[in-house]
Amino acid sequence: MNYIRNCILGMSMYVPDRILTNNELEKMVDTSDEWIYSRTGIRERRISTENTSVLGAKSVEKLLNKLNKDPKDIDLIIFSTITPDNNTPSCACLVQKTIGASNATAFDLNAACTGFIYGLVVADALLSSEKYRNAIVIGSEMLSKIIDWKDRNTCVLFGDGAGVAYIERSKNGHKIVDTYTRSVGEKSDSLVSAAVPISNFILGESVNSDFSIHMDGREVFKFAVSSMVEGIDVLLKNNNISIKDIKFIVPHQANKRIIESASQRLKIDVDKFFINLHKYGNTSAASIPIALTELSESQNLSKGDLIILVGFGGGLTYGSILIEW
Ligand code: COA
Repeated sequence: MNYIRNCILGMSMYVPDRILTNNELEKMVDTSDEWIYSRTGIRERRISTENTSVLGAKSVEKLLNKLNKDPKDIDLIIFSTITPDNNTPSCACLVQKTIGASNATAFDLNAACTGFIYGLVVADALLSSEKYRNAIVIGSEMLSKIIDWKDRNTCVLFGDGAGVAYIERSKNGHKIVDTYTRSVGEKSDSLVSAAVPISNFILGESVNSDFSIHMDGREVFKFAVSSMVEGIDVLLKNNNISIKDIKFIVPHQANKRIIESASQRLKIDVDKFFINLHKYGNTSAASIPIALTELSESQNLSKGDLIILVGFGGGLTYGSILIEW
C-alpha cells in the first residue's frame, strides 16, 4: 500500500564556473597541495562573483525546469545559509522574486553546515501540518566573502555553491522516513563568524569588524566524528534497521578524514559514504544537497534504497535524515 508521505521529488545544484585549485592557494598563503589534500581530501573549490541568493535561485530554476513545476504553485521556500546577501530581505524572499513564486511563504534558516538538514526537517513538519502542500529547501553559500584569504588555517577548506530539493506530500517520490536534530550551544565558540558589530551613538565606534570564519579545528573535528556517528546510530535504532540496510550515507563534505574516522567507528567501509569534497571543499549548507544531487544523477540509487543524510556544523548543530529512495 502506498501512503501519502512527505517525499523529495527532485534535486538540483548550481556551482560557479571559477575553480580555485590548491596550487593557486600555494601562491596566496604558506601551504601546499600535498598538505591540503592529505589533511582534508580537497583538491579544488568553486569561487563565486554572484551573491548567495543568486546561486540559490539558479539551482531552483534548474530544478523547476527539470520537474516542470510552475513557480506559482510553490507554497514554501526555505533558504538555509550563513552567508545571506542582507540582514533583510531574506535570500528566500529574493529567490521568490527572481522565480516569480508569488504564492509562497519564504524565510531563511541558519544552522550553518547542518542548514539543509534543518531545512528539510522544518519542511517535513510544516508539510505534515497540511497547511502547505510543497516546499523547496535550498542550501546556498558564498563563503568566499567571509573567509580571511590570508589565514591558511581556514581559507583552504571552504567553497561556494548551492543545492536544492523539491518536497511534496505525495504517494510517489523519495520518502522522508525519519529525522533527528540536536544543537550544542555550549560549544558555540569553537566555530564562529561574527555578524554586524555592535555600534550605536551611545557605544560610539564599532568594536569589531572581523566577519571571517574562526575555528578550533581539532575541537570541531572531534565533534564532527561523534555527531555523525550519533546521527546515524539514532536513526538505525529508532527504525529497527542495521547499517547493512543502508545503501549510501551522504555526509556533510567538510574533510575526508572526518568521514574516514566516522566509518572506522561505525565499522563500515568508507565506500558507503558518498564523497565529492575533492571538487568543492566545504560549502556549508550547500554541501549535502550538492552531494545528494550528484549521487542521484550517478545512477547508483534504485527505488526502495535506504540512504542517510548526516550533517554537523557551527552552532554547534547536527542532524540526520533517513530517506527511502
Ligand atoms: N597549510 C599548511 N600548514 C597548515 C595549514 C595549511 N593550510 N593549516 C594549518 N597548518 C599548520 C598549522 O599551523 C599547524 O602548524 P604548527 O604545528 O606549526 O602549529 C599544523 O599545520 C598542524 O595543524 P593541526 O591543527 O594539527 O592540523 P590537523 O591535522 O588537525 O588539520 C584541519 C587541521 C583544520 C584540517 C582539521 O583540524 C579539520 O579539518 N578540522 C575540522 C574543520 C572543519 O571541518 N570545520 C568545518 C566544520 S563544518
